[in-house]
Amino acid sequence: METLVPRPAVVFDHVSIAFDEQVVLRDVSFSIPKGSMRILLGASGSGKSVVLKLIMGLLRPDAGAILVEGQRVDHMSERMLLDLRGDIGMLFQESALFDSLTVAENVGYRLNEETDMPADKVRARVAEVLGFIGLGDFIDRMPSELSGGQRRRVAIGRAMASKPHLLLFDDPTTGLDPIISTTVDDEIVKLRDLEHDTSIVVTHQIRDAFYVATHEATRTDGQVRILPSSDERARFMVLRDGGIYFEGSGAELLALQDAYVRKFLNMTLPPW
Ligand SMILES: Nc1ncnc2c1ncn2[C@@H]1O[C@H](COP(=O)(O)OP(=O)(O)O)[C@@H](O)[C@H]1O
Ligand SMILES: [Mg+2]
Repeated sequence: METLVPRPAVVFDHVSIAFDEQVVLRDVSFSIPKGSMRILLGASGSGKSVVLKLIMGLLRPDAGAILVEGQRVDHMSERMLLDLRGDIGMLFQESALFDSLTVAENVGYRLNEETDMPADKVRARVAEVLGFIGLGDFIDRMPSELSGGQRRRVAIGRAMASKPHLLLFDDPTTGLDPIISTTVDDEIVKLRDLEHDTSIVVTHQIRDAFYVATHEATRTDGQVRILPSSDERARFMVLRDGGIYFEGSGAELLALQDAYVRKFLNMTLPPW
């Protein structure tokens, strides 16, 4: 009997891309199951942001196929890419809010601009999103009235407002201290465990990578808790020299005796 294997959320099939003479990805293949989380590590310039931009069709590969929800994005028309991006929530690196817009206008931006959702429905969705990230009281504030961590969480709220099924986080905790970073990490954990979204977390903060991989969000009687989980909840991937240098669990990554990984980890491992 044929077994039904669910379609992966993202597939890279022998993908290569170069800029001029510089090869960034060489024959890279991987697949991310629906509802799962992948953590993408790698030194600066190793191609992490390029991977995310390829998924969104903002860049096109020189060779290979890229599938998102079973659809080829590498040959997709701009018109179809716009639809596809409606189902992807992207938190860009250094993701900035629009300073002249309120929190509500920032979170509802895409719903207002890209859909014909009536204003009261947008407001309701924005309130729901802000409730989810615990910033309901800030709905009519300006970004300048928020702390750095709150601004980053509002940017996550903006990415999730249209209920995307795929979330791409590009260095979500860059520039935040470890305590504030944890509040951002918690939102990422909640989106995975409570909304069951597929997510890719690009980071060079090993601490955050292991935090999201080893914590889980639960909701009992409307109360959300983030606790250490008994099992790992993400798979790790390390990019290096145009290829996937490592793919596996966090525990496997920590146990690797490989000189490059040791050096890479030692720069950021505890004490934090
Ligand atoms: N649009 C582009 N044009 C030319 N070079 C690019 C472009 N995007 C990325 N690159 C180069 O590709 C390499 C990988 O970039 P990137 O994915 O941004 O790295 P990171 O892993 O730090 O996110 C870098 O050397 C960068 O300069
Ligand atoms: Mg980057």
